Amino acid sequence: MEIRTRRLRSSENLRRMTRETRISVDSLVYPFFIREGKGMTEEIPALAGQIRYSPDTVARGIEAALKTGLRSFLFFGIPESKDAVGSGAYAEDGVIQNALANVKKEFANDAYLITDVCLCEYTDHGHCGIIKNGNVDNDGTLPLFAQTALSHARAGADMVAPSGMMDGTVAALRAALDGGGFADTPVTSYAAKYASAFYGPFREAAGSAPQFGDRKSYQMDWHNSREALKRIRIDINEGADIVIVKPAGPCLDIISKAREAADVPLAAYSVSGEYAMIKTAAAAGLIDEYNAVCESATGIFRAGADILISYFAPVLAGAIKKGDIG
Ligand code: PBG
Repeated sequence: MEIRTRRLRSSENLRRMTRETRISVDSLVYPFFIREGKGMTEEIPALAGQIRYSPDTVARGIEAALKTGLRSFLFFGIPESKDAVGSGAYAEDGVIQNALANVKKEFANDAYLITDVCLCEYTDHGHCGIIKNGNVDNDGTLPLFAQTALSHARAGADMVAPSGMMDGTVAALRAALDGGGFADTPVTSYAAKYASAFYGPFREAAGSAPQFGDRKSYQMDWHNSREALKRIRIDINEGADIVIVKPAGPCLDIISKAREAADVPLAAYSVSGEYAMIKTAAAAGLIDEYNAVCESATGIFRAGADILISYFAPVLAGAIKKGDIG
């Protein structure tokens, strides 16, 4: 008997009916960069097409994104001044705290605001934690992460996302949030975050490149996959509500394995370098940008992600609306 696989491809209607991967705009998270200052809407050179806002303009960016159907946003802050202990991260009138208050004032229920909890944008040495004897001090950093998360929750964050990769972070945040009256604020953890070269444009955008050394003592070695599953297990045991695999494109195997192993929603972060690769190749006329964006995002969902954090979120929202994906 001749086996034909092409029958299900014979019409557009049928192709759409039989898609195995379904993508909804509700599964997308769009990152925002917010810098201390006033009246700012500047394009980020390292991330063509992405905008840096100030706390007083970010609500306009959120308003525009809400019109595309997006509802969830991830905030990164860039302070005016940095110090050794990253005090801007947990200042009550810090850049993120002010941005949260401003956006919540206008879009209390429409916009779901997730905040990055890390010190690297706020420390003068650019590391994700404080430094002791030349090394990142894991345990000494935890109270500062906890303080940061709590100040975000007080300012209106709906969810906190610790990305600093110190052991024990989720437990420390959970205790601080519970103790501070925010038992219902979820923690989404960067459980499997690799020491990736693909964060390059982000560090440019956020001014967070380490001033000495690298992040290999706390971010994961990309030779390892069992370690990712172990970290995911530990973070879930500590109370993580959602776990993140990052980067996404180079880690489709990890996403697939984590989907099997973890019983919480799984997010994938398609990072700045993945964005820049598509943008740059498209600008050089080598690939079709829209189709490359659709294909790579769909591949991440096909691998098993429930949620995608992407700088292309507005493009993807449009593609879903048109039926090109989803
Ligand atoms: C902060 C943080 C980074 C990213 C997200 N949170 C940078 C890093 O770890 O160096 C990278 C995101 C991206 O590249 O889009 N720790």
